[in-house]
Amino acid sequence: MKSIVNKSDLEEFGFITAKVDPNCNVVEEINRLKKEKNAVILAHFYQEGEIQDIADYVGDSLALAQHAEATQADIILFAGVHFMAETAKILNPNKKVLLPDLKAGCSLADSCNPVDFEKFVKEHPDYTVISYINTTAEIKALTDIICTSSNAMQIVNSLPEDEKILFAPDRNLGNYIKSSTGRSNFVVWEGACHVHEQFSLERILELKKTYPDAKIIAHPECQKPILLVADHIGSTLSLLNFTKTDTATEYIVATETGILHQMRKFHPEKTFLAAPPKDSTCACNDCSYMKLNTMEKIYKALLYELPELTMDEELRKKSEKPIRRMLEISAKLGL
Ligand code: 13P
Ligand code: SF4
Repeated sequence: MKSIVNKSDLEEFGFITAKVDPNCNVVEEINRLKKEKNAVILAHFYQEGEIQDIADYVGDSLALAQHAEATQADIILFAGVHFMAETAKILNPNKKVLLPDLKAGCSLADSCNPVDFEKFVKEHPDYTVISYINTTAEIKALTDIICTSSNAMQIVNSLPEDEKILFAPDRNLGNYIKSSTGRSNFVVWEGACHVHEQFSLERILELKKTYPDAKIIAHPECQKPILLVADHIGSTLSLLNFTKTDTATEYIVATETGILHQMRKFHPEKTFLAAPPKDSTCACNDCSYMKLNTMEKIYKALLYELPELTMDEELRKKSEKPIRRMLEISAKLGL
């Protein structure tokens, strides 16, 4: 089937400008290419529904890292953001890792720059550094153990009570873990995610007046006032699992909107409302980075095997250690 038109565009400006033939069945083509190239598509819950549906595996950051470690595929296409694809590459130096749009970054990862972070780490010489997976490889290389929102609590709890902990980069997750574990030797880097810091408590409570029986469920990257009114706090997978087994029929969901796709798929009869952001005119509960991925970009990435994520081998090795530690601890704890 003819799929790409304007081949000359492709040669002149690179694959990004190549137009997909409007008659091309992108879903069929993606499936064909996956088989032909022994490629796997790993997608985060924040992707558009159609991308989640074409993926071989959809999950939260921890499950995706675990899948990336275990896959037998030759090519990993990551429908997510840069740090996720980078983690897959760190774990699979000999595999080709594709990210459909290299501009798919993360505001939280951006809120922790390596120069300032190295200084912060040096100011706390006897602290164990735990960094969220939403970081660049440079930050991971300065870290002792990586964590995700799924296992942060258990990783902290796996360390001795008096261990001094430096947690980065998310201040909301860090402070939530600090108070939940009752740790006193716990310093937190002041980083945040632009999506999760935008939720409005006032507007959530206003929505609750219309849906008085709705349960509020929130990702721990949300600010404390939101977490204080939440009926359940957890990673995207934890929020999804909660709605699967809980008896309520209405939920106000304080995390990126992509997760609603899985919730509605599992329980089409329940009502899932996206928690509103402070600015009622923006769609700030959509992650602009996650939403850079499209079906067309995925198709072109598989077809041309571009854009490929590559990295410096020395940095890869340094950043691999704390990820492996996270995977080992998680496996021991059955996570
Ligand atoms: P999860 O750990 O729930 O996948 O969250 C990742 C993320 O980017 C949250 O903003
Ligand atoms: Fe990063 Fe926030 Fe987007 Fe998650 S939702 S990928 S933390 S910017």
